Order: sequence, then structure tokens, then C-alpha cells
Amino acid sequence: MANLRITGLAEEMSTLARMPWSKPLETWEEDASLADMRGISRHIVRLVKATQNYNAPIYAIKETVPEFANREYALLRELINREAPCVEPVAVIENRKDGQGEELPAALVTHYLPFSLPYRVILSAEITPHEVTNMANALALLLVRLHLLGFWWGDCSLSNTLFRRDADQFAAYLVDAETGEFQSRLTDGQREHDLEISLFNVAAELEDLKIAGVLQADMDPVRASEGVIKRYRRLWKALREPQVLDPDDRHAVEGAMRALQDLGFAVEEVEVSINGDKGELNFQPKLVAAGYHQNRLLDLLGIHAEELQAKRLLASFERFRGREPAPKPPLHDSARRWLRDTYHHVMNQVPDALQNRVEQTQMFHEILEHRWYLGEQAGRDLGLDFATKDYIDNILPFRTYVGVTMPGIHEPSAK
Ligand SMILES: Nc1ncnc2c1ncn2[C@@H]1O[C@H](COP(=O)(O)OP(=O)(O)OP(=O)(O)O)[C@@H](O)[C@H]1O
Ligand SMILES: [Mg+2]
Repeated sequence: MANLRITGLAEEMSTLARMPWSKPLETWEEDASLADMRGISRHIVRLVKATQNYNAPIYAIKETVPEFANREYALLRELINREAPCVEPVAVIENRKDGQGEELPAALVTHYLPFSLPYRVILSAEITPHEVTNMANALALLLVRLHLLGFWWGDCSLSNTLFRRDADQFAAYLVDAETGEFQSRLTDGQREHDLEISLFNVAAELEDLKIAGVLQADMDPVRASEGVIKRYRRLWKALREPQVLDPDDRHAVEGAMRALQDLGFAVEEVEVSINGDKGELNFQPKLVAAGYHQNRLLDLLGIHAEELQAKRLLASFERFRGREPAPKPPLHDSARRWLRDTYHHVMNQVPDALQNRVEQTQMFHEILEHRWYLGEQAGRDLGLDFATKDYIDNILPFRTYVGVTMPGIHEPSAK
């Protein structure tokens, strides 16, 4: 009789080996604050802390058949290798048996995506139509990023996506890769197929919420779902299709690259051709890579952040550097001082009890927003220190991630 087999990341193995695989997942204890963070699923899924230790990793465990678990594990690994936004696979558990020797399903283990929320949780809090648009935009961007990598999803939907706050918008992550496939390059037909599936899924999911009375009455599920497709097409066009530039503008090429960077994409390879007869300048992006601001922020300041948070932090740094007297010090020197005097200076003021409520880079963004808001109200800038203190005193204590308490702060759910 085959023994329990765990295939996965070496550094997690000793923790994984100690987990109660001989018990059906359904009977595993799940922390109530974690159960709130879980979306609907066909399979049995549990979010569990690996050990009782307060900083133990949190795993998302899904029971399924071995073939699917292995397939999804391999796809997620490949997606992570290609830097796609998705949950990180940890292991596949096979040959599980219960105490009586009866077979149990295989399990796929992934890392719980911190600060992530299923769409149902976001949409059941008070939400503006603007936020629905933000979710649609995030989903469209996710689909574009997957398609650029040659990944056909096959089941793009809101419930197979997790959302995180990213500045004043959302960042979307793929959570369910079971149906996906890698191709060296997707055909237009394959992309259209994925768009059709997502149009149908998203409309059906929103319709369900509408029937349940959760969505605002005037929201049209089909229109919202079409919003994802429209946004996808706009982005795809900007990233893949040739543009005709003004040949008399010396900065036209640079401008076109900047526009793509502004959308969050670095242009790694581009083809520029000049049409002699018409004197036209054709600009065609060949290879683009997502995470332009994320990568710059990481290189320059060593901070991991979502794309829009990164853009915001970089803007704060640029302003700081702009104020430094000439001759400007080396860039890394300014970076060190910005980190010490601005970023860490602000973050160090957050009391321990209020940490973990909002992701750090998101909190920094919110404090900058708060400074702007206070300034508007007062008719003058009140400064970063004042804004930080006011945010900590008056906003953070009531700030739960879209109305839900985050794991790590053990308070009753605010839902
Ligand atoms: N790594 C993770 N981090 C956070 N939440 C997760 C993670 N993995 C799963 N979840 C939660 O569990 C839910 C269900 O997961 P998943 O979509 O993989 O299962 P499923 O819906 O049963 O799969 P299928 O769509 O194949 O039936 C997700 O919507 C998400 O809320
Ligand atoms: Mg699913």
C-alpha cells in the first residue's frame, strides 16, 4: 500500500509533514477570522495556520483528485517563475488515508495570499460603482498579463481571482489555475475564447449577487462584465498594436515608451520604422514586461509593493529628491535618506497593536492621501507628521480591510 507522499517546496517540508493529513480536510479547524476570508468553492478549501506559532505561515489547502492537484501545482509554479500575479504553490499531498485505511482525496497547498479578499467580501461591504469598475479593471489587467505570458486561463471569473488594495484601486491575483494551459504564444482566437468565458462568468457572478440583494439595485451585471472586456481590449491595443507617431517630434518615441510605463509596463524591445514615402514614424512594442514601477521601487529602495503603490512611493521619493539642493547627491544616497527620514519615519510611528491592519505600503499611500485631504480641508498643507498622527488616531483604529478584520489581529469580525 502506497505511503503518504508530499511533493513540494523543500523549506516547507518539515512543517507540512507534521500536519494531520489522515483527517478529512472538512474536519480541520479553521480560524474564524480566516474562514471569513475564503470565497466560495466547489472543492473543500480551508485556510489554516501551519502551527500554533503566531508567525506561522498560513496555508490554503484544497482537496481534489491527484491529477488535478499535480497539474495545478505545476501551472502555478510556472506562473510564479514567470512573475505572474497568482497564489504561490507549496505542495501536493497524495496517498492520504484516514485512521481506518480509507483513501482520502489529494490536497494542493498554496500560501495564503496576505491582505487578499475574495470579491464577495469586497462587494458585501459598502461599495461604490467606482470600486466595481476598479475590480473590473484589475481583472482585465490580470488577464492581459496572463495572455502576454502565453497563459490561457479557461476559467477567468471573480471567484477564481483574489483582490488586494493597490493605492486607490485593486490588484488582482489568479487563485485557481486548474483549467489553464501554457502556449508559446496565444492566438487571437484563444484570447477571444478566454474573454468570452470571463464575460459569461463575471456577469453570472454579479447577477447572483444582485439576486441576493447585495449589489446596488441600479448596477447592471452585464454592463459591468462588459467593462472588463473593454478595459482588456484597450490595454491589449496599447501594449501590442503599432502606433503612428509624429516624425517631427524628437521626443515621440520616448513619449510612447513613457505612456506604456505609465500603464505599468516596461518596454523591453520595440521596433521603430520610418515609412519613407509618407514620412511616418511607426512604433511597435515587441516585448513588454509588467511591474515597471514595482521593479524600479525594489531596485532603488528595496521595497516590495503593488504596482500603483510603487508608483505613489516613487513619486514621493522624486519629490524628496527634487527638493534636495544642487549639486544633487548620488541617487542611492537620496534613496537612503528618503527611507530613513520619510518612509520609515512614518511607518515607525504606527503602534504595534495597529500593525497588520493595512499592508505597509498601502498604509503609506493612505497617509499621503490623508495629508492631501487634510490640506484641502485646512486650505494649507499641514505636513506629513501631522497627517501621520491624525491617520493613526482617527482612521487606522476603525480601518479594517474592506470592513473585515485581518488575520493576525484577533478581534471579532467586523462584518
Ligand atoms: N492561496 C490562497 N490565498 C487566499 N485564499 C485562497 C487561496 N487559495 C484558495 N483561496 C480561497 O479559496 C477559494 C476557493 O479556491 P479555488 O478557486 O482554488 O477552489 P474551487 O473553486 O473549489 O476550485 P474549482 O474552481 O476548480 O472548483 C478562493 O476563491 C479563495 O477565496
Ligand atoms: Mg474556483
